[in-house]
Amino acid sequence: MKIFLDTANLESIRKYNDIGAVDGITTNPTLLSREKEHPEEIMREITRIIKGPVNLEVVGITTDVMLEEAHRLTTFGNNVVVKIPMIPEGLKAVKILNNEGIKTNVTLIFSSNQALLAAKAGASYVSPFIGRLDDAGHNGMEVIREIVSIFNNYQFRTEVLVASIRHPVHVVEAAKIGAHVVTLPPEILGKMMSHPLSDKGLESFLLDWEKVKKKHDYQI
Ligand code: G3P
Repeated sequence: MKIFLDTANLESIRKYNDIGAVDGITTNPTLLSREKEHPEEIMREITRIIKGPVNLEVVGITTDVMLEEAHRLTTFGNNVVVKIPMIPEGLKAVKILNNEGIKTNVTLIFSSNQALLAAKAGASYVSPFIGRLDDAGHNGMEVIREIVSIFNNYQFRTEVLVASIRHPVHVVEAAKIGAHVVTLPPEILGKMMSHPLSDKGLESFLLDWEKVKKKHDYQI
């Protein structure tokens, strides 16, 4: 399963990219609104830092405007995937972009039917928002299970990118189901890496090593 970072924060992107944990990036207008740098500067810089797919979102809501934006966003780097909202005009844009060889990620997916239609339009990725489904009293992970099963039944090449992840258990569940990608806020990736027993174990190894050094007058 691929791990994307769901952020526009360059510091976090550099930090986690350096430990080899980041296969790609997803951003959206909300994430860009939280940063102080100019959005275009951020998007261009991400495409330079990350070798894998960098998902950049359009903000237009008509097919023509989305296409214009998509063409501009793809000039930022050759690894850009264009995020398109799940609306009829968006699906039309996805179909055209797919024919042009431009990769798309249909975002704001909340049902298996929406994912099916996005895949049929030729999306490279679909992004179901599981945390927001859970918040609304639905079972987000059940939607992931359905989409993965539907895509397998019909050999769709569209990848299921699990978005709106709220905790590390979501990641394990998505991996067990066989989702292709999870996109994580940096703090969730941080939580995945740490365990109190790892810290406790390291502390006691280091303390015991001090004893070894003392016992043998060993200076390493
Ligand atoms: O990529 C967008 C998605 O992950 C949004 O997450 O936490 O705003 O529901 P959230």
